Amino acid sequence: MLISDLSKSQSLLLMVAGAKGAVGSTLTVAAAAMRTQPEAVLPSLMTGQMFPYLGPAQETHVVGWDTTNKTLLTAIEAHGVLPETLWKPHQNELDLVEVRLAPPANSGLKEQVEQLRSDIQTFREHYPQTKAVLINLLPAGASGDLGQCHSLAQLYSEAYPAGFPDLGYTLAAIFSGVPIVNFTPNEVEIPVIVREAEQLGVPISGRDGKTGQTYLKVVLASALRARNLFVDGWYSLNILGNEDGKNLMDPERAAEKLSNKTRILDGILGYQIGERYGIPSHKVRIDYYPPRGDAKEAWDVIDFLGLFGLRMSIRLNLQGRDSVLAVPLVLDLARWMAVLQAAGRSGPIPELGFFFKQPIGDDPPLTFQDQVTKLGELELECDEKIAARTTAGTKQ
Ligand SMILES: NC(=O)c1ccc[n+]([C@@H]2O[C@H](COP(=O)([O-])OP(=O)(O)OC[C@H]3O[C@@H](n4cnc5c(N)ncnc54)[C@H](O)[C@@H]3O)[C@@H](O)[C@H]2O)c1
Repeated sequence: MLISDLSKSQSLLLMVAGAKGAVGSTLTVAAAAMRTQPEAVLPSLMTGQMFPYLGPAQETHVVGWDTTNKTLLTAIEAHGVLPETLWKPHQNELDLVEVRLAPPANSGLKEQVEQLRSDIQTFREHYPQTKAVLINLLPAGASGDLGQCHSLAQLYSEAYPAGFPDLGYTLAAIFSGVPIVNFTPNEVEIPVIVREAEQLGVPISGRDGKTGQTYLKVVLASALRARNLFVDGWYSLNILGNEDGKNLMDPERAAEKLSNKTRILDGILGYQIGERYGIPSHKVRIDYYPPRGDAKEAWDVIDFLGLFGLRMSIRLNLQGRDSVLAVPLVLDLARWMAVLQAAGRSGPIPELGFFFKQPIGDDPPLTFQDQVTKLGELELECDEKIAARTTAGTKQ
């Protein structure tokens, strides 16, 4: 995207893979509500007052894909994330949200990419003068080992694992010049894809949104490290009753999520928790518990040592709402990605580590302090680059 495009087009167009899921459908309601009741949504965003050269946050539209035929309104009601009083007033607008059927699961990767590129083109025609961003909200999947895949031809012909639709959406977005937010734990940022993104000027952010328990884990671990309090063990338990929770009962699908949640601590603290016991003493459990729906609950027990090695511990109980915590982050990330592309960035954006459990790219910031500092620096970098490009543009 050129800076001239940024100034011409005022609003964002979020193209959501998995638009009728818990997070996707809540996102459609938030986008609709923002236009008529900005005061109900905007204060929850971090970027609401940032990026003056981008259109106002409330000018955000959503389109997307899903595999289910049920209507968006039925999906919103079934997920039960939002009470009816919050979404009913927007039902006429929500009825108009364009959600296309996903490419058939049994089609080849190349065919999927072609269909999705054509859909992206159509969405753009329906929403001219908008800046598109792909939001990946597909279910957690088993991504397979694609690190050894060196060319697109190889990916198309042999390597593509069945049941990993994320690749089709990612490639279609890259070939269409659309920046990508990978909110899922699925590893799409393999070398061949990163290379294509860099060549075509497409930034990618990911992966695995850091919404509740892990966000607080980063904050607390960073605080304990800053005081040289030695973390001896960390036990984390989650119960959730939404589709994501059900899906994560499949050990193969949960593997990446659990590893993202577990890996994060050692990097922050600079040592392996439990080394002296010979086994890791950072444990993370996720349990599907239907009565809770989207209202997730998480417990943490943190054992740490102070002066003379004396033991102390912390108990943390988070009663969150999974999709309600996720949606403002998705909106913020979409705004970041439009701005980063206009500032000329492409490929992985490690500076957005604040938003993710498993930040991609080289040398992402790990502690809370570093993540906040990097975000500030990134904002400054974008402001300066965009100002320079605007000046260059007006001089021509
Ligand atoms: N909610 C959070 O706090 C949070 C945090 C971090 C990561 N995530 C991740 O975000 C993703 C979305 O979460 P969710 O709770 O909305 O999940 P969900 O299961 O409710 O939604 C996924 C949606 O994707 C659709 N889908 C499946 N295959 C598809 C395909 N090939 N093409 C298009 N659509 C398809 C499903 O029909 C469903 O509507 C998950 O990967 C989850 O792990 C969520």
